[in-house]
Amino acid sequence: MTPQEESALRAIASDAVRVTEAAAIAAAKLAGRGDEKAADQAAVDAMRTAFNAMEMRGRIVIGEGERDEAPMLYIGEEVGSGAGPEIDIALDPLEGTTLTAKAMPNALAVLALAPRGGLLHAPDTYMDKIAVGPGLPDGVVDLDASPAENVKSVAKARRIKAEEITVCVLDRPRHAEIIASLRSVGARVNLISDGDVAGVINTTDPGTGVDMYVGQGGAPEGVLAAAALRCVGGQMQARLVFRNDDERGRAARIGVTDFDRKYDLNELASGDWVVFSATGVTRGFLVDGVVSLKGRKRTETLVLTSHDQGVRRVRSEIPT
Ligand code: FBP
Repeated sequence: MTPQEESALRAIASDAVRVTEAAAIAAAKLAGRGDEKAADQAAVDAMRTAFNAMEMRGRIVIGEGERDEAPMLYIGEEVGSGAGPEIDIALDPLEGTTLTAKAMPNALAVLALAPRGGLLHAPDTYMDKIAVGPGLPDGVVDLDASPAENVKSVAKARRIKAEEITVCVLDRPRHAEIIASLRSVGARVNLISDGDVAGVINTTDPGTGVDMYVGQGGAPEGVLAAAALRCVGGQMQARLVFRNDDERGRAARIGVTDFDRKYDLNELASGDWVVFSATGVTRGFLVDGVVSLKGRKRTETLVLTSHDQGVRRVRSEIPT
C-alpha cells in the first residue's frame, strides 16, 4: 500500500467516526423514552446528513431496508459528495433500538466501509452465525458442528477445559437447543438481550471473557460483525436463514443465488480494505455511551481498520 493510499484510508476512517458519532448523539437524545422508531429515525437522519459531507461516491449495500420501505439509507441509495472513491457501505444507525428505548446498555451506531464489492449484499433476513476471536487454528469452529463440539474444539485448541469457555448467545427461545448443547459440556453461556454485533466483537477482546459467539441474528448485523473481525482477526461462518418466500425473494433481488451457502469471514467482508466504526449510544462493554457535558456531548468510538489491523478508541467532545 502506498503512503498516499494509507493516508486516504486514514481520512476515510476519521470520516467514518464522525458519521457514527452523529448518529449516536442523535439517538442518545431519545434514550429511555420508550420510542424505538423515533430513536432509530433520529439516528438515520443524522447519519445520512453526515454521510453527505463525506468526499466519496458511496453506495449502501446493507441499509435500512429496500427502497420502497425505507425512505432513507435504503439498499442501493447513493450517499456522499458524489466525488472521490467508490465505497460500499454497510450500516446500522441504531444497533439496539430496544436497548435505546429502554435506556439499557450496549446500544451502538455502526457502519462498515469497503471498496466497491467488498461487503456481502445480505438481505434483511436472519442469519446463523458462529465466531471466534484471533489466535486460534483455522477451522476451529464449524457452523455445521454442534455447539458442544465447537466448544470442545476451542477448548482443545486453547488447552483449557470446556468449563472455562464462555459463549455469547442472544437470549431468545429459538436458542434453547443451542444453550442446552453448550451447557451439556459445561460451557458458560453469556446471554445478551440484544446487540449481536457487539456480541461477536467481544470474542476478539480477552478482557470481555467471551470466547465464542453462536446463534441466529440479523443478516445485516452479521456482515457488520464480519467487517469488524476482518480488521482485528478471528473467524466467522454464517448462513442466511429464510422463513418464507418473501424473504427468499428479497435475497434473490440482491443477487443471492445459493440460498444454503455457508459464508466465511472473507466472503462476508471481502474488500481489500475495510473500515469499521461503532460509537456508543448507551454505555456498554465495547464503548461508553454518549455523555452530556455543558454545551457538549462526549462520545466514544471503536474504529477498526484492516489495512494496519488497527484498533483505535476515539473520544470526542462535540459542541452541540
Ligand atoms: P435492532 O436494533 O434492529 O432492534 O436489532 C437488535 C438485534 O438484537 C440485533 O443485534 C440482532 O441481530 C437482532 O436484533 C436479532 O433479532 P431478533 O430480536 O428478532 O431476535
